[in-house]
Amino acid sequence: MPKYAKNQPVNFKNGVERVAIIGAGGTIGSHIAKALLKTGRHTVTALSRKGSGNTFPEGVLVASIDYDDETTIVAALKGQQFLIITMAPTAPRDTHSKLVQAASKAGVPYVMPNGYAGDIDNIKLGEDTLLGPIAKANRDEIERLGMQWITVCCGFWYDYSLAGGDARFGFDFDKRSLTIYDDGSTKSSTSTLAQVGRAVAKVLSLKEFPEDENDSSLTLSTFLNKAVYLKSFVVSQNDMFESVKRVTGTTDADWMITHENTKKRYEDGLAQVKVGNMAGFSKMLYARAFYPDDSNNLSAKTQNELLELPDESLDESTQAGIDLVKELQLRVERMAA
Ligand SMILES: NC(=O)c1ccc[n+]([C@@H]2O[C@H](COP(=O)([O-])OP(=O)(O)OC[C@H]3O[C@@H](n4cnc5c(N)ncnc54)[C@H](OP(=O)(O)O)[C@@H]3O)[C@@H](O)[C@H]2O)c1
Repeated sequence: MPKYAKNQPVNFKNGVERVAIIGAGGTIGSHIAKALLKTGRHTVTALSRKGSGNTFPEGVLVASIDYDDETTIVAALKGQQFLIITMAPTAPRDTHSKLVQAASKAGVPYVMPNGYAGDIDNIKLGEDTLLGPIAKANRDEIERLGMQWITVCCGFWYDYSLAGGDARFGFDFDKRSLTIYDDGSTKSSTSTLAQVGRAVAKVLSLKEFPEDENDSSLTLSTFLNKAVYLKSFVVSQNDMFESVKRVTGTTDADWMITHENTKKRYEDGLAQVKVGNMAGFSKMLYARAFYPDDSNNLSAKTQNELLELPDESLDESTQAGIDLVKELQLRVERMAA
């Protein structure tokens, strides 16, 4: 049965005001938190581990939680209307479930689970990268506990992945080396961190429900138990390299270029992961997304126009990525994982 605002209790406000977020000081969470605050429509509360060294965007409220004490998480989530989870991939596997269970006990109706990756409907890609079944289990748990989810399919984060070393988009800016997968012409979907932030803020700023049967405007309820698809650029490594050369004022001669077969690179990375060497994970993940016959290309599904997301400049985003290199190098443990 579709829900309408007209059928809600008298004091009902047709929009999400109170948003809780895990990782508001992290890579993507900080962009989402900033974009939410910029709308002026939300209070944003960061749920953060006691003793976390994180700093948060100005205006974010902070609630300390302890993953070994559920009452702290439930208390922090009471009264929140939406929980956004942007959890470090290095967090223990059961952490996501602890949050979702606490959200259910606190009465939070909506959860954005960890994800921020490829198309959830591309089952083969999800299985091959090992991420799909985990994300599906996370979504299923949310539904089983009587809540609803909205997940984000954005492809790789362009700026982060460009900056993140050879195992990601193949660039090592310190060594000026580039590993090109196959002939470098396969296109994959990417979104900048800022574009993901804008998309999430846009969805959470929509009316929660249509006013009545005659209201055909876009609402948050349109996205429930579905994915939001977005992009910044659908680009090949060759496209990225041309942009990098423009931005850095370099030429082919300045770069050490090697070629590698994507399928071999995927198999090598997977073999490393299977023996517990997580350094192989990014290698496997990114190589798989550039398979010429099944790349991570979301072009046909992106909802940029629906969400009124801006077109961005590839070269400006390349510069933003280069500016991130040093920051990511400080996150040694994370970037090896
Ligand atoms: N599309 C892409 O290219 C791409 C790239 C990377 C990641 N991702 C996805 O995005 C998600 C978020 O990644 P991110 O880089 O934004 O995360 P992140 O910045 O590494 O971490 C987010 C937050 O997780 C919390 N955290 C860290 N270690 C933890 C631990 N051991 N136990 C519990 N909490 C811990 C921290 O919050 P507090 O200290 O405040 O508690 C941290 O700020 C990933 O899990 C992955 O699904 C996508």
